[in-house]
Amino acid sequence: MDLAELNKIAVAMVAPGRGILAADESSGTIKKRFDAIGVESTEDTRRDYREMMFRATEAMSKHISGVILYDETIWQKAKDGTPLVELIRRAGSIPGIKVDEGTQPLPNCPGELITAGLDQLAKRLPKYYEQGARFAKWRGVYDIGPHGMPSYTCVKANAHALARYAALCQAAQIVPIVEPEVLMDGGHDIDRCVEVTEWVLKETFQELFHNRVALEGIVLKPNMAVPGKKSGKKVSAEEVAEKTVRMLKNCVPGAVPGIAFLSGGQSDEEATAHLDAMNRLGGLPWKLTFSYGRALQAAPQKAWSGKTENVAAAQRAFSHRARMNGLAAMGQWKADLEKKAA
Ligand code: 13P
Repeated sequence: MDLAELNKIAVAMVAPGRGILAADESSGTIKKRFDAIGVESTEDTRRDYREMMFRATEAMSKHISGVILYDETIWQKAKDGTPLVELIRRAGSIPGIKVDEGTQPLPNCPGELITAGLDQLAKRLPKYYEQGARFAKWRGVYDIGPHGMPSYTCVKANAHALARYAALCQAAQIVPIVEPEVLMDGGHDIDRCVEVTEWVLKETFQELFHNRVALEGIVLKPNMAVPGKKSGKKVSAEEVAEKTVRMLKNCVPGAVPGIAFLSGGQSDEEATAHLDAMNRLGGLPWKLTFSYGRALQAAPQKAWSGKTENVAAAQRAFSHRARMNGLAAMGQWKADLEKKAA
């Protein structure tokens, strides 16, 4: 393992004013997104949609440091025959790959999930590297429920899988994005979210240590501290920022180059405002940026709606969200920048 090189890539993934586009929806998830805009999900429509984003030069060259791809996409070619990974590289962005194989029920823990995909991972990684991937992603999922959820078993098993994945990635000279996601679906308040996320992060870093993962060569992708959707509670961006940063400072060593949040079902503007408020706090030991799926793609998806004549409008919508989040990554976003664009 060349740790200096891994560190260089991790640092580039969280470069000032830039963040990651999570375009790695599985075929099932992208079908749901396409259903919502009335587009049939086929190999070609999925390619056309993603090609539209990767050719959005303004967003890609100025604000998007890396793109997480789904297995299908990393092998796909644009309409003119250029490999999609080449489009990403030409824009100055880094191709990455989701390597987990989704979740399965966790035995003996009703309602809980364990992420699959370790079995053949050591064999798959060199192929992805050869195809241009310089980082990877693996997501563990934790649901906060009323009856002792998440369980100790769920937190431990997912932390172990994340660490095994991270160690295999580094051995293959690929930077692992370590993504433990505490879901925001429940009826819990923000303080319960902090309590569970701290536990999950502490177990995850303990397992990373036991598996000898070099923290200078990873990027952490956590959830923010927010109240559960079903709680009906609203908190200010300042409270989210203060509690998230405090939680992270309690759990994430300063050796980690950067933290790139998932959006997890927050609205586009909430996800931007929260990131901005955190960066305004200053004095942070790591870079704080975005690795958004929905909060970057909802607007361009709607604008595109599967029509070639909408490509330019969709690219503008994507570039706008990428620019807003790029500003938020530097604590320089303002709400009235959104209104001017509308
Ligand atoms: P969201 O930003 O839509 O939560 O997606 C990020 C991601 O990559 C989840 O694994």
